[in-house]
Amino acid sequence: MASVTVPNTVEQPVVESAFFNDVVNGLGRPNKSLPCKYFYDERGSQLFDQICDLDEYYLTRTEQAIMDQYADQMAAQLGERAMLVEFGSGSSTKTHVLLENLIQPSAYVPLDISEEHLLKTASALRLKFPHIEVLPVVADFTRDFALPVPQIEASHAAVYFPGSTIGNFETAAAQELLKNIANLLGAEGGLLVGIDLKKDPAIIHAAYNDSRNVTDEFNLNILRRINQELDADFDIDAFEHSAVYDQDEGRVEISLVSRCEQTVNLAEHTFQFFSGEEIFTEYSHKYSVDEFARLATTAGFSLHKHWTDSENLFAVLHLVNESD
Ligand code: TRP
Repeated sequence: MASVTVPNTVEQPVVESAFFNDVVNGLGRPNKSLPCKYFYDERGSQLFDQICDLDEYYLTRTEQAIMDQYADQMAAQLGERAMLVEFGSGSSTKTHVLLENLIQPSAYVPLDISEEHLLKTASALRLKFPHIEVLPVVADFTRDFALPVPQIEASHAAVYFPGSTIGNFETAAAQELLKNIANLLGAEGGLLVGIDLKKDPAIIHAAYNDSRNVTDEFNLNILRRINQELDADFDIDAFEHSAVYDQDEGRVEISLVSRCEQTVNLAEHTFQFFSGEEIFTEYSHKYSVDEFARLATTAGFSLHKHWTDSENLFAVLHLVNESD
């Protein structure tokens, strides 16, 4: 008889993890919220990959096209013997074309919180770019971390921060992050950053409210995850995805809205929802090139060059730390 693997069905006590504490704190506030970093479990990452392939989600393919078209100019801007540090590298897909063009790079440092993903990506990159030293760092880029020392001494370090991820930070937090980047890099350090531009609100609205409801599933997945990992009892169908572009604030406000009055239980905690109550999950800020350059000035960066697509949907900016 074939052996049967018995699944581990023994009930585990809920350990008071950072995830647990963040959820309890976020839902316990008068204005409920959940940290967006919890979107990305395995299913969440798959759903986000599907978002990136949607017709309505212009961001990923537009940024990739800008990279494909101008990577040689970007590499020239970064200069010789740069050490390139990528924030939230994931699978580093947008980086390939940049690495192909870098002029005698000192090293490539992919940085991510997910160790498994990071190490796989690093091995693949070493095979593809045997002449570049790849030095992965497992770190949360919003916290302090040290840069590795490459074999070939770098002329300077440059951070590559694609995906308009900086747009997911509130203005003050984005400023703070830019200051940390400036400190990390020191004088003359470079920053190559992708930002989503202000445009016709209808285009932005469609990108966050797609016709196949993939975005709905992605946003709701955070509740599924809380049910699965923390044993909460969210009725997923009793919440709906909402993404509204506030033109004055220049940002998409993404939330989950309770469809009715209801109660949700998580361990010894009980959370009450009124009908229409929101759980805020993420902002996605849209900038003009000038607005972003002004924001970066407060951290000591000055804009040296930028590249956009023909429709001005997205931009990649090269900034240099000119503070000392
Ligand atoms: N960083 C992405 C963005 O701002 C994240 C994102 C895309 C997102 N679609 C979403 C987050 C829907 C929450 C819900 O574009």
